[in-house]
Amino acid sequence: MKLTLNSPLDMHLHLRDGQMLQNIAKYSSSCFAGAIIMPNLISPVTTIKEVEAYKKRILKATGGDEFEPFMTLFFQNSYDYKFLKEAKDHIKAIKLYPSGITTNSQGGVNNFEIDSLKQTLEAMSELELPLLVHGETNGFVLDREREFGSFYEKIAKAFPKLKIVMEHITDKASVKLLEKFDNLYATITLHHLLITLDDVAGGLLKPHLFCKPIAKRYEDKEALLDLALNANPKVMFGSDSAPHPKNKKESCGCAAGVFTAPVALPALCELFEKHHKLENLQKFISSNAREIYKLTPIQKNITLEKKEFSVPQNYGGVVPMFAGEKLSWRYI
Ligand code: NCD
Ligand code: ZN
Repeated sequence: MKLTLNSPLDMHLHLRDGQMLQNIAKYSSSCFAGAIIMPNLISPVTTIKEVEAYKKRILKATGGDEFEPFMTLFFQNSYDYKFLKEAKDHIKAIKLYPSGITTNSQGGVNNFEIDSLKQTLEAMSELELPLLVHGETNGFVLDREREFGSFYEKIAKAFPKLKIVMEHITDKASVKLLEKFDNLYATITLHHLLITLDDVAGGLLKPHLFCKPIAKRYEDKEALLDLALNANPKVMFGSDSAPHPKNKKESCGCAAGVFTAPVALPALCELFEKHHKLENLQKFISSNAREIYKLTPIQKNITLEKKEFSVPQNYGGVVPMFAGEKLSWRYI
């Protein structure tokens, strides 16, 4: 059996910088037509100059693959209309991180009062620039995403024309919220469709499955699966593939992030086939994103076949999800 996907898109991707970017970029650029590139570098991407310089480094690392990096800025409430009008030609969206909530987010938002965010969010709304949000409070780890819901409600109501993407949702409360507001959308990762907290910490600890937001309960995973497998038009695939060197994962103080770029499409084929929903994968992996972001991707067909794929133990010094295991689909 074979499946051809037209212009797969990864709407949430960490490509890093420097040597890591060189080592891992091709695992996305070879099989995706484009990706939303996260701006949480060690020094976050906050200026147009930095966006353009980072884009250049990415294009160099992808070595001529047909792949478009969709650039983003790291949200700051100092961004005003004039700056954003100019930035709009260089970026697809702006990513908001609560301060300190995840990798390289120290420069994120501390004050969630509408008044302090208004200048930037109003301008984004007018300029039709989507707001991407890492939606977690600093409360109890299993409640963080649910607790953040009240902020989503507040901004969805205050800025009804602003497109807000709830990034990497993990919780059934987020699924409910998505249905409640027209201007809320979501990305879903591969790993949150496959694992629960039990897989991370229920037996021997699995550092390579540790990420933010942490995988939740069985019923949360089922709610996400229902959205993805049925290609609900408000959801898109966003891998949140977040590579960290092996020694930073297998260490006391394990870095958060699952590296899924090289296995994402084969594993999604396996998952959608298992649920007899392969016909919906094109929408989840590309068409929904095109509609939500109003973008026309580079034309690129990626064909996979149902044949055993033994996943390598590491790619460029990073351990992928399913390392040493077998998947039932592979790239041709
Ligand atoms: C991401 C990273 O490492 O940059 N980590 C993660 O666990 N997902 C950041 C993020 O998206 O939270
Ligand atoms: Zn991320």
